[in-house]
Amino acid sequence: MMHYGTVSVEMKANGVGGVVTALCLMSREGDEFDWETVGKDIEHAQTDYFYKGVHKTGVDGIIHAFPDGGTIDSDYHTYTIEWGPKRTIWSIDGFTVRTLERSSNFEDGVYKYPNKPSYIKLSLWDGSGCNGTAKWSNGPINWDESPDTYVSYIRKVNITCNPEYNKVITDNDDELSD
Ligand SMILES: *[C@@H]1O[C@H](CO)[C@@H](O)[C@H](O)[C@H]1NC(C)=O
Ligand SMILES: *[C@@H]1O[C@H](CO)[C@@H](O)[C@H](O)[C@H]1NC(C)=O
Repeated sequence: MMHYGTVSVEMKANGVGGVVTALCLMSREGDEFDWETVGKDIEHAQTDYFYKGVHKTGVDGIIHAFPDGGTIDSDYHTYTIEWGPKRTIWSIDGFTVRTLERSSNFEDGVYKYPNKPSYIKLSLWDGSGCNGTAKWSNGPINWDESPDTYVSYIRKVNITCNPEYNKVITDNDDELSD
């Protein structure tokens, strides 16, 4: 788990409709930041976030073109989430495409800004499971006509935890005594 920090992945995603490739930061409390690609819509990638499991459809999820050109499946792109205590920046190939400010998310007396330690997840999944998700992911996958394997490639992952908020935890006591 990471509590604030920067994660970037160099990824070449799958372009088949219904296939979702994602980099997510997810806390146990339902806070979440995402970079996601969906098949068929190969000229865009999507950013999203949730605060305590709440997502405002049409507001929190945003679709981005590649500033440097290209598609999700023909090239590697670097997808970055720079999650700080005050703001979060999503970038593709070094270009900032979205900034979320903690200060602009004050609502009902609380900052609705993801702030809990989060798992870093890389995933490849079949979006066909329910109708809403199938529509969003341009599925469903036709498994009868399709090969039985879909692949997305990740060639580099860089995780830099913010040292002010993260401490190293290990379950190996020998390592700790060093
Ligand atoms: C999806 O929609 C179809 C037609 O509207 C319906 O028959 C089916 O039960 C739905 N499937 C799921 C998983 O919701
Ligand atoms: C990893 O990311 C950090 C923070 O963005 C950056 O300073 C560092 O140069 C990166 N390291 C590599 C090997 O790319």
